[in-house]
Amino acid sequence: MIINNLLVSYTDEGQEGSSVIIFIHGFPFNKSMWNLQVEPLKDNYRLIMYDIRGHGNSDAGNEVFSIDLFANDLIGLMDALKIDKAILCGLSMGGYIALNAMGKYHERFDALVLSDTQCIADTSEAKEKRMRAIESIKYTGVEKYAEENIKNFFSPESFLTKGKEIADVREMIVKTSEQSLCSTLLALSVRKETCHILPEIKVPVLIMVGNEDKITPPAAARFMHEKIEGSFLKIIDHAGHLSNLENPGEFNVQLKKFVASVY
Ligand code: MLT
Repeated sequence: MIINNLLVSYTDEGQEGSSVIIFIHGFPFNKSMWNLQVEPLKDNYRLIMYDIRGHGNSDAGNEVFSIDLFANDLIGLMDALKIDKAILCGLSMGGYIALNAMGKYHERFDALVLSDTQCIADTSEAKEKRMRAIESIKYTGVEKYAEENIKNFFSPESFLTKGKEIADVREMIVKTSEQSLCSTLLALSVRKETCHILPEIKVPVLIMVGNEDKITPPAAARFMHEKIEGSFLKIIDHAGHLSNLENPGEFNVQLKKFVASVY
């Protein structure tokens, strides 16, 4: 589908006319990271999974990447699909986008699921790390970047039990162009914090995090939980940063229970 002159790749599954859940993937992945969430939800909801610009099969366009731009793209997609309101489910960068969109367009969302994410901006140390990553992608390429980063995404246990998921994630990373990886790393490094909007969120919120998430650790989830009145916090066992892939059973049980309580 063409939205604001950009080809956006998405899948539209489940029940037409039902309540909508929109899934926003993390970095540097794509919509296929949500495949294990389709089956348990498709009988009762309409499920939209899309590729953020520059990722998966979506075009990158010509604009400078930013979380603001990604949030505007999300609203553009909702408008194009005539979705007035939805539940947003974002993992990591997907959560940054969900919180950014919530701050600007709160009337478009019935509830939020924030998975393995945080509300703070990058520290100067984190920014430097992103700059080093950009250098390394330019000099040593995407394959090496994937090899080094995959270690941080999964729990040690997953390396013994989740061979397919790890291979799938590696594939998602190497499929992303060097240009998109670098542009998104820059966008992430300059993103604004969204912690200040948390006390203003009045819709139901479920926060989930892998108990071994090293990138956006449980402490970051607890911090958001304390700031969002009435929010639910679920720590997912046997999972690192990609809790929906590493422990889909528990993730899906919590997600289903939550959305059933919203609609
Ligand atoms: C993600 O999974 O989206 C990234 O780890 C987020 C980040 O690097 O801040």
